[in-house]
Amino acid sequence: MKIGILNGGGDCAGLNAVTRAVVRKSEQLGYEVIGIKHGWAGLLDISTKPLRWSDVSEIIKVGGTILHTTRTNPFSRKDGAETVLANAKEIGLDAIIAVGGEDTLSVAAKLAQMGLRVVAVPKTIDNDIVSTDVTFGFDTAVNVTVDAIDRIQTTGESHDRVMVVEVMGRHAGWIAAYAGVASGANLILLPEVPFDLQEVSDFLKRRHESGATASVVVVGEGCSLKGSPAGDSTKIDEFGHARLGGIGELLAKEIERRTGIETRAVVLGHVVRGGAPFAYDRILATRLGVAAVQAVKDGEFGVMVCLRNNALTRVPLSEILGKMNGVDKETITLAKDFSI
Ligand code: F6P
Repeated sequence: MKIGILNGGGDCAGLNAVTRAVVRKSEQLGYEVIGIKHGWAGLLDISTKPLRWSDVSEIIKVGGTILHTTRTNPFSRKDGAETVLANAKEIGLDAIIAVGGEDTLSVAAKLAQMGLRVVAVPKTIDNDIVSTDVTFGFDTAVNVTVDAIDRIQTTGESHDRVMVVEVMGRHAGWIAAYAGVASGANLILLPEVPFDLQEVSDFLKRRHESGATASVVVVGEGCSLKGSPAGDSTKIDEFGHARLGGIGELLAKEIERRTGIETRAVVLGHVVRGGAPFAYDRILATRLGVAAVQAVKDGEFGVMVCLRNNALTRVPLSEILGKMNGVDKETITLAKDFSI
């Protein structure tokens, strides 16, 4: 049995732990593993390398991905999907484990329908994939964000400033919500709830008039002002997503202008996506890697391995297509109730 493994989309902490688990579990079963480089691009131009036990030594603790990743969409290229299928055959792959977020999984689902024997593993710091309790990468991103906000808070206090902290989260505000609540931020703005600049400014003005000398505002990068879309629509990737970022700077400028309180913006962005995974993500990624090899062994394809009530399970890829796991009502309320 020859298994290919690839990573697609934005990287996150824990990707290498999956690769390590896939290689080691496969070797135990007598299977061969081929690393496919740069996501689906590695099957368009055949860029691969064999992975053995020693190739994955020590990588459980390493951030990023030894396989490299891109946002390549074979379906946006002429004959792209057919090329992927032909190349997988040429390399002699019996199965492919695709580790990725919503976009990578949607490609996997379509290729599975075309006959590719694929098992998917969900990953993203955004935690926005349905049918799984959580995605690996999220816990590390939240922990790093909390640490950063704790630090930003003390400098904000020293200077009597409003500190606006922009964090990643394209469609879902899980990082903003969890890190905001955990760090005791004073205002948490989520992509799920468009906000009004004047309301935000009035809230901060009232807060400072009642005695506060500093405030921390956490804003998800996918946030939009009431009535206008998020992001820069002139920069679109192969999956049609606008490049995000910029809401923190805009917010800081407007808060300062409308309240007269000195305000600074900090964009955490990729900082919380890189670096070593925390223990929870190392374990989850390892469990999912093993589960993916098990699915291959069982001959169950077109599925995503995932976590339900902390137990490993499999769901058909068709079940997750086009769906998004946004921040739930309880967490939205929590974030709102602790905006004080
Ligand atoms: O992978 C998801 C994500 O981290 C989003 O939160 C963010 O909008 C996007 O990736 C950024 O991607 P890039 O690395 O291409 O700038």
